[in-house]
Amino acid sequence: MHMSFSVAVAGASGYAGGEFLRLAVMHPELEIRTLTAHSSAGTKLGEHHPHIRSLADRVIEPTTTETLSGHDIVILALPHGASGPIADALPADTIVVDLGADHRLIDPTQWEKFYGSAHAGTWPYGLPELAIGSSGRQRDELAGAGRIAVPGCNVTAVTLGLQPGVVSGTIDTGDVVAVLAVGYSGAGKAVKPHLLASEALGNAAPYAVAGTHRHIPEIAQNLQFAGAEHVNLSFTPVLVPMSRGILATATAPLNEGHTELTDTQINDIWCDFYRGEPFVQVLPTGQWPTTAMVQGSNSALVQVAIDRAAGRVVTITAIDNLVKGTAGGAIQSLNLALGLPEHTGLPTNGVAP
Ligand SMILES: NC(=O)c1ccc[n+]([C@@H]2O[C@H](COP(=O)([O-])OP(=O)(O)OC[C@H]3O[C@@H](n4cnc5c(N)ncnc54)[C@H](OP(=O)(O)O)[C@@H]3O)[C@@H](O)[C@H]2O)c1
Repeated sequence: MHMSFSVAVAGASGYAGGEFLRLAVMHPELEIRTLTAHSSAGTKLGEHHPHIRSLADRVIEPTTTETLSGHDIVILALPHGASGPIADALPADTIVVDLGADHRLIDPTQWEKFYGSAHAGTWPYGLPELAIGSSGRQRDELAGAGRIAVPGCNVTAVTLGLQPGVVSGTIDTGDVVAVLAVGYSGAGKAVKPHLLASEALGNAAPYAVAGTHRHIPEIAQNLQFAGAEHVNLSFTPVLVPMSRGILATATAPLNEGHTELTDTQINDIWCDFYRGEPFVQVLPTGQWPTTAMVQGSNSALVQVAIDRAAGRVVTITAIDNLVKGTAGGAIQSLNLALGLPEHTGLPTNGVAP
């Protein structure tokens, strides 16, 4: 049976909101009814996202409770801190999906430490593949959910790479190191001097180093859901001159009892963990993910191997930060909330070259 759900997108002029719109217009059950934003209210969407032709003439409205009310679904693609008050004012029977950070963390202390404001509360977490203990997955929590907190893009990449090692007991989460190559769209569309092409082109620039990045507590939270007792994570993102994409290299020591595993055996453990997942694939042994392989798609590609000299498991995960890392992950979770097949309207194939 064909159903149609009305959708309002707040933050429609931004990168995350725009990517949600690009995907949503291809979704058979979603009807984009209202677009809102902030400084660009009153302008046409085509001025901000000329690639979304089918919505180019739609006028952006201000982001208020009034403009967002009366829809089946409200997507909040706003700077963190902006979505809490808006979500509170929306009716309980509206499905609200927050692409920002406001409702991801469970521990208010961690929120206040990393974000420096009052905690807005915790919503069901929008990563269907997240391991809950040894046999559960987060998708069960998302069925029928009325509120969804979509994960941070770096968080998705690191979590998907490491969690099979937590569930299988092969890695020691007391010494995790993650270094990520991150495309510039992850920083949003607002103009800042360090994001200018003159600074970015031909340059690789680390940011939020030495334990300060806001995605650290979220990754730890996820690995604890998967069963880790203690997580100690060193996390370093590096901006590299590409528009989209995250290549996350995450390593951790092999636990005792697993030091004789071959690369084929550890690849098999990761493959078994993700068997049947529509959007996460472990590549054949020896083939490493690249960001170009996932551009424009909701796929996450993962590889794992053992660095014997270092005694560490090395995982590499590639995602498109705007698709699996944000808007695609949001639609995947929304499909579960609506009782639709999880893959509805979502591409597994990327665009290349
Ligand atoms: N970019 C990514 O890869 C990515 C990945 C995961 C999660 N996210 C999250 O998604 C959210 C949006 O990120 P983005 O990259 O799309 O940022 P962005 O490109 O800077 O867009 C921000 C959007 O929010 C609107 N806005 C700004 N201040 C506002 C306010 N006070 N009230 C209402 N609307 C306001 C802007 O409207 P105007 O343009 O009209 O001012 C714009 O539409 C953030 O929370 C971000 O952390 C982004």
